Amino acid sequence: MKNSIKVDKNKTIDKVSNHIFGALVEHVGRSVYNGIYEPGHVSADKNGFRRDVIDCAKEMGVTCVRYPGGNFVSGYDWKDGIGPKENRLTKLNLAWRELEPNYFGTDEMIRWADKISAEVIMAVNMGTGTVNNAAELVEYCNFANGTFWSEKRIANGNKDPYNVQYWCVGNEMDGGYQLGALSAEEYAKKAREAAKQMKIVDDNSQFIFCGSSSPVSPFFPDWDRTVLKIAYDYIDFLSIHAYYDYISERNINDFLASPVGFERHIENVVLLCDAIKEELSSEKTVMLAVDEWNVWHTCVGEKHNHPWSVGESLIENNYDFADALVVAGMLSVLVNHCDRVKIGCIAQLVNVIAPIMTQPGGDILKQTTFYPFALFSKCKDSVALIQETDSDMYNVSAYGKSLYLYSSICYNETTGEYICYLINTANEECDLTIDFGESVQAQKHVFLHAELNDKNTFENKEKVVAKERNTARTKSAVQCVVLDGYSFNVIWFRACNAGLK
Ligand code: AHR
Repeated sequence: MKNSIKVDKNKTIDKVSNHIFGALVEHVGRSVYNGIYEPGHVSADKNGFRRDVIDCAKEMGVTCVRYPGGNFVSGYDWKDGIGPKENRLTKLNLAWRELEPNYFGTDEMIRWADKISAEVIMAVNMGTGTVNNAAELVEYCNFANGTFWSEKRIANGNKDPYNVQYWCVGNEMDGGYQLGALSAEEYAKKAREAAKQMKIVDDNSQFIFCGSSSPVSPFFPDWDRTVLKIAYDYIDFLSIHAYYDYISERNINDFLASPVGFERHIENVVLLCDAIKEELSSEKTVMLAVDEWNVWHTCVGEKHNHPWSVGESLIENNYDFADALVVAGMLSVLVNHCDRVKIGCIAQLVNVIAPIMTQPGGDILKQTTFYPFALFSKCKDSVALIQETDSDMYNVSAYGKSLYLYSSICYNETTGEYICYLINTANEECDLTIDFGESVQAQKHVFLHAELNDKNTFENKEKVVAKERNTARTKSAVQCVVLDGYSFNVIWFRACNAGLK
């Protein structure tokens, strides 16, 4: 198989937003309790945060954390999760049929995110919650002092305001399963009023409004159109959620082509946002927050027939190498649409459909999907380049045609380095030519290559890991590389005139 790519560092898509390397941390299963928070664990710090999880999240390069949900937020009162822990009450987490002991709340999340140098994207409850309650959370987090809620934050040991800037105004409010689900009109009006009041409290607030909850939602695109029309002036980002599944994608080729579906959905939502912009003669362009995305294989334990519990396993997937290729493909789509996708959150971070798994009281595991994320997050502070590609295609029943090779090429203006992300979804080697338009020299080639069904487990933690290989270091504008069949590759090239290390 032969493919070619041509780039020019002056022809850019946009700067890659650092916020696309975010992750969802929700109160569900073992995401928070027995995940990031496990006071009895040998690695726990004085806050009860597992240090091994912190180290892993840092290594993954997570830049922002969406919290506290997900479905959970639509039944959550943030006031239950602040103040002295001994006074906090156990409540029902109705979204997931769990008990919520409230040991971990807003202050703990701000502290935890700080440990990994990430920003918190806070979600407010538009289900059972009120507009006023949402505005009070902004006051609690961001108001300097002298008011009831800002003084509460200070009394809880947090003198400095948190300056939370990004707010999800609800979660998947179109879904019938969502607590307090609303019609598009009802949601748009409630969320608009919430954003209005939240912005009065803190003018720096930026709002992520709920788009319809999935590319295959029966409400897409009507929901999105209605929400945009009613609340346009308050919408900075429209949210997209997208999960792909081997079972629903029917066969392996369709599954590996999931990034095609993902890309089409993003492009359709962009078109929709721009059509409404035009219709309203607005100056403002709405950006996208893909604030839940991942591979999610539906599994036992999701059916809400489990006993009420805290920190028990729920929707845990053990990912294989095919999943890692799809995750890499989705990351490539996010990077290639960085002109409009400004926020991205893999869902989720720990244990629940997550790249990081933990054993209560025990070990930590990097899943196959950990590595593509950790490698893609290295293109922070780069620009994504427009690619002229010539790549072989194949037929897939789900999307008509798909490329064998997904690619993103980023350029870091400060270092003069190109980072090439190359995902070969074919079961045969790929001869690839990349024309950079200036003389470059390869620096490093990191890759993942395995059987599609290979997984990392606690018994065999390194079945699928990123490895480095020697790569030809010829100086030339046109570089030829060979990619293994079924492989994910990251190759760094440095412009010769940038001075070689
Ligand atoms: O990430 C798991 C769930 O998926 C989230 O709670 C919800 O928003 C989505 O449906």
